[in-house]
Amino acid sequence: MTDKSSNGLIGWIDARFPLTKMFEEHLSKYYAPKNFNFWYFFGSLALLVLVLQIVTGIFLTMHYNPDGEMAFASVEYIARDVDWGWLIRYLHSTGSSAFFIVVYLHMFRGLMYGSYQKPRELIWLFGMFIFLALMAEAFMGYLLPWGQMSYWGAQVIISLFGAIPVVGDELTLWIRGDFVISGATLNRFFALHVVAVPLVLLMLVVMHIIALHEVGSNNPDGVEIKKNKDANGIPLDGIPFHPYYSVKDLVGVVVFLILFSAVVFFAPEMGGYFLEYANFIPANPFKTPEHIAPVWYFTPFYAILRAVPDKLVGVIAMFAAIAVLFVLPWIDRGKVHSIRYRASSFKWLLVMLVVSFIGLGYLGAVPTTDARIFFARLFSIGYFAFFVGIWWISKNENTKPVPERIQ
Ligand code: HEM
Repeated sequence: MTDKSSNGLIGWIDARFPLTKMFEEHLSKYYAPKNFNFWYFFGSLALLVLVLQIVTGIFLTMHYNPDGEMAFASVEYIARDVDWGWLIRYLHSTGSSAFFIVVYLHMFRGLMYGSYQKPRELIWLFGMFIFLALMAEAFMGYLLPWGQMSYWGAQVIISLFGAIPVVGDELTLWIRGDFVISGATLNRFFALHVVAVPLVLLMLVVMHIIALHEVGSNNPDGVEIKKNKDANGIPLDGIPFHPYYSVKDLVGVVVFLILFSAVVFFAPEMGGYFLEYANFIPANPFKTPEHIAPVWYFTPFYAILRAVPDKLVGVIAMFAAIAVLFVLPWIDRGKVHSIRYRASSFKWLLVMLVVSFIGLGYLGAVPTTDARIFFARLFSIGYFAFFVGIWWISKNENTKPVPERIQ
């Protein structure tokens, strides 16, 4: 125990709860590699957005009414009549898109620097479960405003489960809690969106960070800093997370908040990408919108689904696109972590993945044509080819020499 904490209020707490011990273990004596670049901002930004979503969500819940007759009007009421309600709503709706932008960039960093490789497989796995929970959270949240796109988007996605042989119909009935999407569906989605999934998300994030602090952070050079320690057991290329990275992360937070505020205040609908125009029309079970598309963060997977002619195979392909990320640490047999020292074939594969993913994202958002279906198939193959390619090249990869220490 340090001198400072042995007396006063902190000392009193420390004798009863490991406050200083935890602060030191996770912040002031957590040694992080000294070469983090801006890609390492996105973990702390994801934490920031998580808190923002929970806080704004609590205030929305105070005024929202999860009743089929009232839901749409209660959201309009929040936006028009509740003091600052418009801001709370736009912070929350923009926050959901910001969450996915931040998390996709965070995952991409993991791909570039091999952060999913041994010994960080569990950090990645917890991350993937977070990603699943986040998708479930966003999907159920989108039903709550009870607009046309809430209703018909949910209709399309829930009906996918109907393609599963034998249990499909029973399963969709069980999810909806009714023969059609109704107030019963809205009620259960509300309960799951507001209580159950956020709890799971929070737990997973805690496990994600515990696992990270157990093995230590990777870095842009992919060098294990724990291999080179001084006489006190402190990594030679490590610096205490606090104050060095807590201050550095603040720069990321400021830049993020500037961009985020610009969207919230000037373009909260973001041309229909963050809030779809059809969702400003109340849900009408008798009138299907002309064009149904999920919000942008689901469109890459939706495009894979639509690229396959058979519904069941399409559903399998869509789920496989997510499932394959879970096993990535075992698909990649490479020993070198960072893109800086990997073979150029790795770089080209990563470029192919990014182009395919963005291409699919665009194609999933627009109505289909023959040409678009052709490209959706091409990009779907490009997406899966990344994983096959990594498995293939990583066996005998022509890597560059990795330095002993951080450069
Ligand atoms: C709510 C969502 C998430 C939060 C709050 C979160 C938080 C964090 C934080 C604070 C870090 C340490 C700082 C950093 O390395 O950037 C981190 C590291 C990491 N995260 Fe996440 N994360 C989330 C989602 C994900 C997802 C979806 C994945 C991937 C599937 C993932 C994979 C990783 C990996 C591999 C690391 C270690 C990176 C390294 O050391 O190079 N995370 N995460």
